[in-house]
Amino acid sequence: MKTFFNVQDIGDLGKALQEARQVKATPFAWKHLGENRTIMLVFFNSSLRTRLSSQKAALNLGMNPIVLNIGQDSWKLETELGVVMDGDKSEHLREAIPVMASYCDIIGIRSFAGLKDRDYDYDETVLKQFVEFGGKPVISLESATVHPCQAFADLITIEEYRRKRRPKVVMTWAPHPRALPQAVPNSFAQWMSAADVELVIAQPRGYELDPKFTSGARIEYDQMKALEGADFVYAKNWSCPGVSDPSAYGKVLSTDMGWTVDAAHMAVTDNAWFMHCLPVRRNMIVSDEVIDSPRSLVIPEAANRVVSAQVVMKRMLESL
Ligand code: CP
Repeated sequence: MKTFFNVQDIGDLGKALQEARQVKATPFAWKHLGENRTIMLVFFNSSLRTRLSSQKAALNLGMNPIVLNIGQDSWKLETELGVVMDGDKSEHLREAIPVMASYCDIIGIRSFAGLKDRDYDYDETVLKQFVEFGGKPVISLESATVHPCQAFADLITIEEYRRKRRPKVVMTWAPHPRALPQAVPNSFAQWMSAADVELVIAQPRGYELDPKFTSGARIEYDQMKALEGADFVYAKNWSCPGVSDPSAYGKVLSTDMGWTVDAAHMAVTDNAWFMHCLPVRRNMIVSDEVIDSPRSLVIPEAANRVVSAQVVMKRMLESL
């Protein structure tokens, strides 16, 4: 495996889930694979789960992880090509990427969407430069439009807790005070569309995700109707994806607190499990009552981030 950005990169989902079960049961069984190998984990943005789970996965595989916080541990990096570098950025990605790549065998990158220029973000301009100029396998640790390690962990969690062959999975938009990228909902929709689940996306009008991620999903503007009979409720905020109106890209179109997932919302489901990728704003996205209930999966979901990262790194090590 040379890149891990989209669900297609993992191949057969059944095989990937089986491998995840093996990795979870015997996490140190492939420690020899990472001997004398190094993974560089490059963070342009904050992280708790991704940073720690990626390091833990690498250590389980016997690899040496190096974590670099851009702008804190390193020079500030310029990411746009063709600019006059007369500002506060001292080094360009064009040099920094091959230098970092020369010190490692695999690179992971966290680089959020800027939410200013839709084309720049949706072209995955920063991620593509790591592929082009690094020459090493690349993992998106949440880039402008995708967060595949999260979506894979979400799928592993749904597989562990589903009680029906084909569960109803509802991803619902929920309010948030700030504009957030679409990477998590894009990847969740993409992975659930590829999995054997009934996917419904509930959202206010204007929040339609890019159709390249949502094929097969039913879009519903009535949140309560969407949640009826759900087996899993996946709450997430995202800003306007700008599909029908590019000028609205990255904007907050609604702060309707009626969309906060509370006990009344969960009451119309089929005793659904509650999921969220974390970090979560309590009593904005989800009520205390729901996230603290025995039906909340947020902690096992976060724990599975080690498993998803380890399967991906294992496959990359096997293909070096
Ligand atoms: N879910 C997730 O990616 O968490 P972090 O932003 O803390 O890494």
